[in-house]
Amino acid sequence: MVSESATARAESCPREFQSRTEQARQSDVSPVVRIDGFAAARDVLRSPSVRQAGFNAELVARFIGRRHAPVLYQDGEPHQRQRSATARFFAPRVVTTRYRELIERLSRDLIDRFRAAGRARLDDMSLELAVAVAADIVGLTDSPRDRMAARLNRFFTAPPRDGGLRAMLRQVLLGQYRMLSFYWSDVRPAIRARRRQPREDVISHLIGQSYSNREILTECLTYGAAGMTTTREFIVMAAWRLLEHEDLKARFLATDEQERMTILEEVLRLEPVVSVLKRRAQREIAVDTESGPAVIPAQSLVEIDVAAANRDTAATGPCPHQLDPDRTRPAKVSASVMSFGDGPHRCPGASVALHEAAIFLDQLLRVPGLRLERPPTVSINPVSTGYELRDAVIVADAAFGTPHGPAER
Ligand code: HEM
Repeated sequence: MVSESATARAESCPREFQSRTEQARQSDVSPVVRIDGFAAARDVLRSPSVRQAGFNAELVARFIGRRHAPVLYQDGEPHQRQRSATARFFAPRVVTTRYRELIERLSRDLIDRFRAAGRARLDDMSLELAVAVAADIVGLTDSPRDRMAARLNRFFTAPPRDGGLRAMLRQVLLGQYRMLSFYWSDVRPAIRARRRQPREDVISHLIGQSYSNREILTECLTYGAAGMTTTREFIVMAAWRLLEHEDLKARFLATDEQERMTILEEVLRLEPVVSVLKRRAQREIAVDTESGPAVIPAQSLVEIDVAAANRDTAATGPCPHQLDPDRTRPAKVSASVMSFGDGPHRCPGASVALHEAAIFLDQLLRVPGLRLERPPTVSINPVSTGYELRDAVIVADAAFGTPHGPAER
């Protein structure tokens, strides 16, 4: 389904006065097209005639330009080149060797600490895991991990919505301060170390491409948002579902890793972390809709409703609102449908995120006496439009101690 919620202004008189602010206002008057069907969403995301417009991309482009912009904000050939050059960091072999070993070790450590304490905040555990894994990929490994996680958490925490001008100004200044603190404490030491000795990570690659320190900082923040915060939320959501559904949990623990990932993708299909993807149409785009072919006008802002597209029966088969890991889907439709995006911007970290969730939850759900003492509170982040799950408390029988700790020695 495609709907046009605004139409271009009609102009009957010739213009003699060209407004200086017209360009800035353009986005206010260009049509907004909302897409909720799977086929049309895929047509848009795969079209060569669209540009990234989500995550404040158009604002970012105005401030830093598109040349050395973070990969999420690039388009066309430069974007393709950047994706090809960084594909090696996400290759299946690297995920199943280097990252798997790291995820297993980090999960063991987190769960040992939880078992020793008997109580923990699940969203803190998932943050620590997600930050550590993404930091390894990016190359942010020259500062203490827990402090970096805390800094990023503060940076990405949405400011309170209400408040006057003073409160807004305070938030802007605080945001700047937090960004600088991340730069000085985490990014700069990593860049320095890699200028001396390049490694196999994103920062070393960007240095090789002559990115400035500021541009590297922006890319690190993008990975922070795209790779760390998303995975953190997803792990909590999946744990919540599994802890509340004994039969699903039993199946998750009894099966192999491949099926565990299918279960997780089915959870992600129903609960996509990124709920809206946006693109700007450079030209008219022909799309396939439920009611036949349609055309999206040039300059439209296209908003793709991921949650709706993920429940389109054309992609899911019957009963799209049910959690059913056994559903049969059409060929080439992934189990999480659009939750990792589609087309040239499709998430390169999808397999990393699924491994993180599958390995961590497999270890966590085997802890004796594990239960969810307090379910998370749910809110929506206004920038990413994704959900945020906070203050989820899990408890376990502390008397069991850790498998490697004093209680069992
Ligand atoms: C459950 C976890 C995750 C979810 C739901 C997720 C979702 C997404 C989505 C929907 C996009 C596409 C955005 C668009 O088309 O506008 C994306 C892009 C991206 N993701 Fe993920 N992601 C996850 C984990 C990760 C991880 C672990 C990493 C890396 C460590 C990562 C790195 C990226 C990057 C760099 C992009 C930009 C790619 C581009 O624009 O070419 N993501 N992600």
